[in-house]
This record gives sequence, C-alpha cells and structure tokens, in this order.
Amino acid sequence: MANWKAGILGTGSALPDQVLTNADFERMVDTSDEWIVTRTGIRERRVAKPEEATSDYALLAGQRALERAAVDPADLDLILCATVTPDMMFPSTASLVQDRIGAKRAGAMDLSAACTGFLYAVSAAAAFVESGQCRRVLVVAADLLSRITDYTDRKTCVLFGDGAGAVVVGEVPADHGFQAFDLGSDGSGGHYLYLPAGGSRQPASEHSVGGRMHFLKMEGQETFKFAVKAMAASAERVLATAGWGRDDIDLLVPHQANIRIIEAARKRFDLPAEKVAVTIDKYGNTSASSIPIALDEAVRGGRVGPGDRVVMVGFGGGLTWGAAAVRL
Ligand code: ACO
Repeated sequence: MANWKAGILGTGSALPDQVLTNADFERMVDTSDEWIVTRTGIRERRVAKPEEATSDYALLAGQRALERAAVDPADLDLILCATVTPDMMFPSTASLVQDRIGAKRAGAMDLSAACTGFLYAVSAAAAFVESGQCRRVLVVAADLLSRITDYTDRKTCVLFGDGAGAVVVGEVPADHGFQAFDLGSDGSGGHYLYLPAGGSRQPASEHSVGGRMHFLKMEGQETFKFAVKAMAASAERVLATAGWGRDDIDLLVPHQANIRIIEAARKRFDLPAEKVAVTIDKYGNTSASSIPIALDEAVRGGRVGPGDRVVMVGFGGGLTWGAAAVRL
C-alpha cells in the first residue's frame, strides 16, 4: 500500500467587503430582521461590486490557499472550479484563474453541482492525485449568487451572498488526508431549485428577461426537507466508510443554507456547538463556496489543525448531496 494519500495542503477564502444587512432588506422587500434571523440565522451577507466577477474572488481565494500550502502556481497540474455563476458560459472560470494565477502547466475546468460543487470538485481532485495523474490540484469554489438573485422576491433574496473558498490537494502521509467521500444526486427534484433561462432550453430573449427567468427559483420548504434528510444520510455513510464514529469528529463543516438545517445535523450527530462550523450569520448562503470558506476560517482561527478529523457535508441544486471525511 502506498505510504501517502491525497489530502489538503492549504486553505484560502475571499469575500467582498460590501455588507448587506437585514435592515437593508427591510427597506427593499416586505420582511423583518426578526423573521430572517429566526427562520434562517442570517444577519448579514457580502455582495460583490457590479464591476467584479466570480473569477476575481476565485483568484484571491486560490492565491491564499497556495500561499498557505507553500505551493508555487507553476507547480499546479490542474485547477477545478466549482461554480454555478461563472464569469460567462465559456471560457471556464477555471481557465481565467489558471491564466491570472500563473499556473502555466495546469489544465483547467469548471464543475457544476450547485451548493454541493465543492465536495464534488474536491473528490475529483483527490481521485486525480491518488491515480497518479496529478500531483497538485487547486480546487476553488466560487459563486456570486447576487448575480442570479431576484431582489424583489423576499422568499429567496434574503438568503444568498457572494464568496469564494479554495484548497490545494496533494500528497500527505497515509494516515492523513481524505478517508472517504459520498456523492449523490436525485435529478427528479431539479425543479425545486433552478435557474430557468440562459441555457440551451431557454436562451436569453426579451421574454426571458421580462419574465425574470434569469433569477434563481426555489421551493424553500421542499428544499428544506430534502436538505435535513440528505445531509444526515450522507454524513452517516461517509463516517461508516471512513470507519469513524461520531466521537471521532473534531469539526463538522456543513453547507451554510439555514441555521435550522445545520442544527438538525448537529443534533443528529450529538455534537456540541464548538464542533460545528457556522458562518451563516455573517455570510448567508454562498453556494459552493460556503464549506471551504467555513473550513478556512476554522483553520485560520486555530479551531482545527494537523491530525484533526473533519467531516464536510452539503446539499444543493440538482438535487445533489455530498460528504467528505478528511484528516488534516
Ligand atoms: N420575510 C418575511 N416573510 C417571509 C419571507 C421573508 N424574507 N420569506 C417568506 N416569508 C413568508 C412566506 O411568504 C410565508 O408566508 P405565508 O404563510 O403568508 O404564505 C411564511 O413566511 C412562511 O414561509 P415558508 O416558506 O413556509 O418559510 P420557511 O420556514 O420554510 O422558511 C426558508 C423559508 C428560509 C426559505 C426555508 O424553507 C429554507 O431555508 N429552505 C431551504 C433553502 C435552502 O437550503 N436552499 C439551498 C439552496 S442550495 C443551492 O444550491 C443554491
């Protein structure tokens, strides 16, 4: 057996400076700080400036992860970018990052699994490394959901924010690194969370713009029910595959969509609050980037370090879900 595995060499994240508070939303739609805090746990979120794009934040998060991993961009073999809000349909956001970050030898591609995108991308990165095809892979998850949020729809607009998170995946000693992954999809629930227009079925037209079809649509309650079940089942499976018990978890890093969904997962695994990463109060739901942002904050804040066991778990449009068990 090899004496190494694929693991995380460094983490990074990047968030816009501009803050949108619940009080700002009280002026935009019929809502209240009290409703938003009690129903979602969100107090504020970050939004990018109009002239910025997803690759700007992906680049920053990627640079920070490379710095912490002490990896030269020129030594990267591959860049994977998980996003549902790319700068444009093509070229890929990963290719834009590859150029700007100076990763001259690296291949690059985007990967789309909505809020679960980071877990899909990091699982692919680990497979590339463990197969021997790549030695170092930069995984970036970046989304500017503000670009597809309908700020006249109170049911969705209060939930989302912008941001990017990144990890460098490479070889680590065999008793560290990724121990298990669990990925899944149920496409029959695709209509619970989707962006109707802008693709090949409904290209942009006056009709699609007039009908506000370039904004995200969501059935909140259906998504909520799915999320609670999918996160628990996926995390259970990844623990079983890794051979870990609940007590082995040093930190649970769940997708940040709603504090009530996070609380359900915390209770299911009987974890104290200090073993669960929560950023939703500050950043809202930042889609694919929420897990790597929360992980990066936990690493930088000293909540987890080398040797600690981390379980990451998420769900999102598709519908999709995923989990990863990793020893730092
Ligand atoms: N302010 C005030 N009232 C509101 C707001 C708001 N912002 N939004 C909805 N309401 C109202 C509704 O209109 C409804 O009023 P009514 O009873 O008069 O019709 C009432 O509040 C209750 O609405 P529900 O939808 O039942 O509220 P719920 O408790 O389900 O919370 C929420 C809604 C927060 C959206 C919740 O369902 C949720 O978090 N769902 C999961 C969302 C999610 O995880 N999305 C993941 C996206 S992942 C990705 O890939 C992007």
